[in-house]
Parts: sequence; structure tokens; C-alpha cells
Amino acid sequence: MDHDFWQARWDEGRIGFHQDDVNPYLQRYWPTLHASPGVAVFVPLCGKSRDLLWLRDQGHTVIGVEIVPRAVAAFFSENDVAATNRPHGSFTLWESEGIKIFQGDFFDMTPHDVAGVGAVYDRASLIALPPSMRQRYAAHLRAIVPAKIKALLVTMDYPQAEMDGPPFSVTEQEVTALYQDYFKVEQVCSEDILAENPHFREQGLSQLLEKVYVLKTR
Ligand SMILES: C[S@@+](CC[C@H](N)C(=O)[O-])C[C@H]1O[C@@H](n2cnc3c(N)ncnc32)[C@H](O)[C@@H]1O
Repeated sequence: MDHDFWQARWDEGRIGFHQDDVNPYLQRYWPTLHASPGVAVFVPLCGKSRDLLWLRDQGHTVIGVEIVPRAVAAFFSENDVAATNRPHGSFTLWESEGIKIFQGDFFDMTPHDVAGVGAVYDRASLIALPPSMRQRYAAHLRAIVPAKIKALLVTMDYPQAEMDGPPFSVTEQEVTALYQDYFKVEQVCSEDILAENPHFREQGLSQLLEKVYVLKTR
């Protein structure tokens, strides 16, 4: 799951994870975080998600990071959002009104890059990564964001033996193990979405749960 893997996915248009509409769990559960409009929101592994626009439209300043250049360019062009870009350390930093995206590797981000962030929205980042990288991901996220934050996390949970990832299965136990030292972890939703995703049934899945968690620093 390195840069070349994701570059190839984007080059070949194998981006089934991308949603044309704003994520319904984001719309339903973001208000439960009580993140006031001025709060800056970090969206790791953001792809070209329209969720960035929704968060901006709630009054948040949005900071994303995405490793594949064409994904970032597509976000701005497909949504008709005017943006500038310039080199910034190992990144190319794209900036528009209310949204900036670090095009580069999440693991190269520093606390300075996300200084002032008060909330995190993470859809499909954990499930994009194999188990060993998930630990590294959670540790790095925790290391760079400010001490007091809230987060909304959207993952998938299915019998891992039935299919190779990505998307990988991430259980509630794993989410708890990854984050419980820092956050109170609360699962707020678990829905079986297999019926609406027949291609996963065709790949052999017998159950596919989409799960939403709210994380708050202790
Ligand atoms: C499963 S997709 C999810 C995208 C987005 N969150 C969404 O909801 O559409 C994972 C994304 O993370 C990007 N990615 C993978 N590894 C990365 C890394 N180390 N740093 C930044 N982006 C990365 C991939 O290119 C891909 O666009």
C-alpha cells in the first residue's frame, strides 16, 4: 500500500471508494461532535472527497492530505474551486478559500502542518491500510494533532478471511486498541451495507458492516 499502489489505482480509475455525494454518516454524526464553525478540521488521506466541501460549508477551515497528485488536482477542477499551489517542504501545498490540501505523504506531516486543528474527520483511511501500517498511522496521527481534539471515524468490518483488502476489515476491538490510550472511543453506528454493494457479495463477503465512531480526548 505504498505511493505506487495508490498512484496506479488513481491512474487506472480504480477508485470505487470515491463517493459522488457527501457521506451520509458525516452529515448525520458530525453535529454530535459539537465542533463549532471556527474549528479547523484535519482530513487525512482525503482523496478527492466532496466531504471536504461539506465541512468547509459548515464554516470549518479544512486541511487535507493526499499522496496522489492527480487526485488533488481533480478535487479542485471537478468542483470548480480556484486554488493555487506551491512547493512546501516535501509537499505541494494547494490552497483555496477555506480548504488546503497537502499533496504528499501523510507520514511526512508534522505538528506544525496541523497546528490549531480541533477536529479530525477520517473516512476510509484506516481501512485503506494493512494492519502494521494502521498502527503506524494511528500513532502518527496522535503525534501530530494537538492534544485536545474530537474525531469522527468511518470504517468497515467484515470477515477478513473472506476477502483481501483494501478495503481491509477493521474491528471495533482494533479501533479501541489503537486509540483508547488517548481517546474515549464510542461506536455510534453499525449498518450492514452488503445489500447495496453487490460487488462485495460477488467477491465472497457474507457480511459488510459500516461503522462510525466518535473519539474524544480524555
Ligand atoms: C480509500 S481512499 C479514501 C479517500 C477519502 N477519504 C474518501 O473518503 O474518498 C484512501 C486515499 O488515501 C490516499 N493515500 C494512501 N496512502 C497515503 C499516504 N501515505 N499519504 C497520503 N495519502 C495517502 C490514497 O491515494 C487514497 O486516495
